[in-house]
Amino acid sequence: MVKAIIAPSLLAGDFAKIGCDCQRMFDCGSDWVHIDVMDGHFVPNITLGPPIISALREAVPRGGKDGKSASFFDCHMMVSNPEQWVPEVARAGGDQYTFHFEATEDPLALVKLIKANGMRAACAIKPGTSVDVLFPLAEYLDMALVMTVEPGFGGQSFMPEMMPKVKTLREKFPHMSIQVDGGLGKETIPQAAEAGANVIVAGTAVFKAQDPAQMIAFLRDTVTT
Ligand code: DX5
Ligand code: ZN
Repeated sequence: MVKAIIAPSLLAGDFAKIGCDCQRMFDCGSDWVHIDVMDGHFVPNITLGPPIISALREAVPRGGKDGKSASFFDCHMMVSNPEQWVPEVARAGGDQYTFHFEATEDPLALVKLIKANGMRAACAIKPGTSVDVLFPLAEYLDMALVMTVEPGFGGQSFMPEMMPKVKTLREKFPHMSIQVDGGLGKETIPQAAEAGANVIVAGTAVFKAQDPAQMIAFLRDTVTT
């Protein structure tokens, strides 16, 4: 069984207090934080880039304030030319670099570049992209991301029709980390867990919850059981 990992997306937090939100998520029991980098070109929205990741890393160092939390930064790069930002994101303190399959000509070379820069490498596919493109890459990846909304904005509706992609990956690669991102919450997590996803990104569901710690625990329990 692959480990359940909950990664709240800071996109749903308060960008004026992003360092506090990031620390708060780890205090609430999250395994990772998910950092959505958007360039206004690959997706029709602009969020943040390496300078903010770097500031976040200063606010939330590896090891956490108590030395217990890994404070893992999961960087979802919704950018054209993802090769360009690998060294900067690594220097800024990223732990995992997720590029979009649709944004690169040579995914395998990019995976090698990411690993050479000391980060874990992951590949994301948009809703319109076939899961088959991940098969030849799978053995080199630390994680695959199956998008469950069109990338670009938080707060969209989960696309259940993406679940067959997750099922296919889980059947072919029983030990692979499979992330889902977009519209995950109390209502939709059972479908994602059932399909075999083990890494759950949740923005709105966690940040708008009355008790974010409870929501994180609920998501984890649903994936685990
Ligand atoms: C969308 C982003 C997601 C988004 C998820 O492009 O990749 O990470 O923040 O937000 P929710 O959970 O609100 O759908
Ligand atoms: Zn994301």
